[in-house]
Amino acid sequence: MSTPRDGALAGQTVVLIGGSAGIGFETARRAKAEGAEVVLTGRHPERLEQAARELGGARSAAFDATDTAALASFFQDLPAPIDHVLVTAGGPHYGPLLKMSGAEVSEALSDHIVLALEVARNAAGRMRPGGALLLMGGTGGRRIGHGLGIVSAATAALPPFTAALALELAPVRVNLIAAGFVDTPLSASLLGDQLDERRDELRSTLPIGRVVGPEDVAALAVHLMTNTALTGATYDIDGGQQFVW
Ligand SMILES: NC(=O)c1ccc[n+]([C@@H]2O[C@H](COP(=O)([O-])OP(=O)(O)OC[C@H]3O[C@@H](n4cnc5c(N)ncnc54)[C@H](OP(=O)(O)O)[C@@H]3O)[C@@H](O)[C@H]2O)c1
Repeated sequence: MSTPRDGALAGQTVVLIGGSAGIGFETARRAKAEGAEVVLTGRHPERLEQAARELGGARSAAFDATDTAALASFFQDLPAPIDHVLVTAGGPHYGPLLKMSGAEVSEALSDHIVLALEVARNAAGRMRPGGALLLMGGTGGRRIGHGLGIVSAATAALPPFTAALALELAPVRVNLIAAGFVDTPLSASLLGDQLDERRDELRSTLPIGRVVGPEDVAALAVHLMTNTALTGATYDIDGGQQFVW
């Protein structure tokens, strides 16, 4: 019978920048089941402790990933080497373009990229060759629409950024996961009392006939960690949402 130590990530360390909930947490759960040591990060210590307990024990560190000094000291304090890093911290910026200030536009266009670069800068020297840095993007922002505002432009920047970073970070690999709706605490907070209605709508319109969950994205993330042929690319996971909406 196989044990976790025999898994595809046995002996490897996986760092989740944003690992106490949603996609990051489910990826931690799956990576641990595949034998990895996981390190969870997030801003709220109680949420992190609860998540670490739910995993049956995991190293964790509470800090805001957008605080560059805190991010640098987190990586300095980690016992190297690291194999894989998934960055899920940070969310989309919705709203009409003309209502945004210049500073808000700059922030919305660059925050995912700046965070990914800071993570790359701090993690690179500690990551094993063939390891993976995984970033999060989306398929929903490929459309242009009222209400999406700056999201479409911010979404478009991520695939070429990922490919360029993959060239610089090699032999560490870099890939982008582009998700559609994923049923996570973030989606619940964005939709409020419209959440159930949205789930029903997705079940009836998506080609897969069900809602994509964080465990689906976790399965893709672990595949991207273990398949060493993959770098510089964008992997869609939206149940076909981009083709029906
Ligand atoms: N859910 C979707 O439908 C969807 C679709 C496409 C793309 N995405 C993207 O995928 C990523 C993860 O989404 P999710 O739905 O899993 O989100 P989530 O359920 O809100 O989980 C986010 C995790 O990241 C942590 N986090 C957030 N901001 C942080 C920061 N500044 N520093 C450190 N930790 C931080 C959160 O903990 P704390 O709050 O305690 O910090 C939490 O552990 C986001 O970038 C999101 O935009 C999501």
